[in-house]
Parts: sequence; C-alpha cells; structure tokens
Amino acid sequence: MTEPAEGAVGAGVAAPGRVLVRVRGLVKNYPRQRADAPFWARWLGRVWGWTGALDEWPVLHDGLPILKGVDLDVHEGEVLGVVGPSGAGKSTLLHLMGALDPPTSGTVLYGDQDVTGMSQARQARWRNEHVGYVFQFYHLFPDLDALENVLLPAMVAYSVPAYLGRRRDLHARARALLDEVGLGDRMHHRPSQLSGGEQQRVAIARALLQRPRLLLCDEPTGNLDRRTGEQILDLLLRLKAAEGQTYVVVTHDERLAKRCDRLVHMTDGRLTDRLDGGDPESYQPPGA
Ligand SMILES: Nc1ncnc2c1ncn2[C@@H]1O[C@H](COP(=O)(O)OP(=O)(O)O)[C@@H](O)[C@H]1O
Ligand SMILES: [Mg+2]
Repeated sequence: MTEPAEGAVGAGVAAPGRVLVRVRGLVKNYPRQRADAPFWARWLGRVWGWTGALDEWPVLHDGLPILKGVDLDVHEGEVLGVVGPSGAGKSTLLHLMGALDPPTSGTVLYGDQDVTGMSQARQARWRNEHVGYVFQFYHLFPDLDALENVLLPAMVAYSVPAYLGRRRDLHARARALLDEVGLGDRMHHRPSQLSGGEQQRVAIARALLQRPRLLLCDEPTGNLDRRTGEQILDLLLRLKAAEGQTYVVVTHDERLAKRCDRLVHMTDGRLTDRLDGGDPESYQPPGA
C-alpha cells in the first residue's frame, strides 16, 4: 500500500494526490442466524436475550465474516471504483467507510481523524460535513418535494435558528444544484412524480449540498436503463470536475468502471485484485 508523501498541508486539508481515506485491517462480522448456535445458548438467548445483555455474546452471535481484513487507500481527487460479485461485501465496505455502520475491528482514517473511534454524535456530525451518499434506490423521502429532499442534510445538521440563519444560502445552493442536474423546473415535484433517473439526480444534488469532500456511491446506475445510467454517469463526472471531490463508486456497470481513475476488485470480503494494471506500490494517483 502506498504511503502518501507528506506535503505542506494545513488544518487537515489534503493536497491533490494525498490519501484522504485510509482503511486498515477492516473486519466486519454480522450475527449468524441464531439457529446455528448450540441449543443451550439459544435457550439462554430466549430467556435472557430480551435484556440486550447477550447482543455481543459470541456463542450466540458467533460472527458471520463479511469483510475479512480490508486495506485500502483512497487518494484525494480520484474516482475509485470497487467492483466484484454480488455478496462480496462492497456495500458493507462503503457503509463502514462512511461510518453508517461500525466495524468489528480495524480502522477508517479520514485525513488524520480516526472515524471508527469517534463517538456516535461526532460520527454523525462528521458524516454530515464531509460525506455524501448516493444509493442505488435513491432513498428520497416520499412526502418531501425535490427541493426539500435536497435541503434535508442541512435540516438535520443545524438547529432551527442556525438553519433559518443560513436559509437563504442553503436554498440558493439547493436550487443551483437542482438546476445543475437538470431539474430546475421540477423543484416542487415529489419523488412519485419523478422518473428513476430524475430521482437519482435529486439524490445526487442532496449528496452534494453540504459540499462533502468524499462522495460514496453504491451502484448509482444500478437501477436505471442504459441511456439514463449513462446520463447519470456523465453528470457525476461533470460535477466531480466542477466541485473536485473524491469519489468511491461501487458498481457492476462496466461503462462506469471503465471511467474510474482506478479500480479495486472485491471477492469474498477481500480486495483481491487491482485492475489499474499497475503495481499498487507504484500507483500514481491523479494530480500527484
Ligand atoms: N445486516 C446484515 N446482517 C447479516 N448479513 C448481512 C447484512 N448485510 C449484509 N449481509 C451479508 O453480507 C454479505 C455482503 O453483503 P454486501 O456488502 O451487501 O455485498 P455486495 O454489496 O458486494 O453485494 C452478503 O452475504 C449479505 O447477505
Ligand atoms: Mg451492494
């Protein structure tokens, strides 16, 4: 794994080519089906499990290994693709990198911050400030219109007075983003009034509202037809060029994979292959 050259960099702001996210020894076990545990442990689980005291008890939840020790460096400003068969653990890795889920062991470092070691409240704040997510199924709120959906991360991030103080700027940013994704005339439509591709564009605008440095995309074109997927792809790359974030994109989509700066391949909970064709030690990230 490449160690980043130390540059003259201030206040945690990384120069292009530096490592933005450093994943080390990431392991994730999900609970096994309780049916796999011995009879006496299941019996104890029935009687005592309601207290929550056995939630971490290995005999009952002997972990089902999903990520088996992942090391990965994500370089500032790159579009890193993660490809691999379904069930390999790609989404799990993305969730752990974005602190949506805690690892069983291992660390995720963002710049010099240990994300995995933060309290939940700090993690939530960090997520809101630094990370944007785009999911395969958009995850928009059905009762909010496009503009409100885009504003949601800010509504969550600030107290009511703080939100009202920033309201003008936030609305201007949300409107500009919706214009940018081609939905300037659909701001007050709800998700049910938008096509899949349009919903994904709203989701992308939402992900970018708070100007995150890191955008995590899980199969962003996975639920769209070819042409719409292509448009979403163009849009993501155009926005990346304009706003300069770092992208980690999980994808099955070959066209999307081809346009990533670098690809890593995941199989059975491990990164097995680097498809950039080069020796990882000599890999030069864009802008380095
Ligand atoms: N909450 C969960 N509880 C138990 N197993 C899970 C959970 N989430 C995912 N898994 C399992 O983890 C494995 C990897 O899932 P995932 O990361 O979604 O793979 P991918 O995105 O590569 O298709 C799958 O076998 C899946 O069934
Ligand atoms: Mg997945």
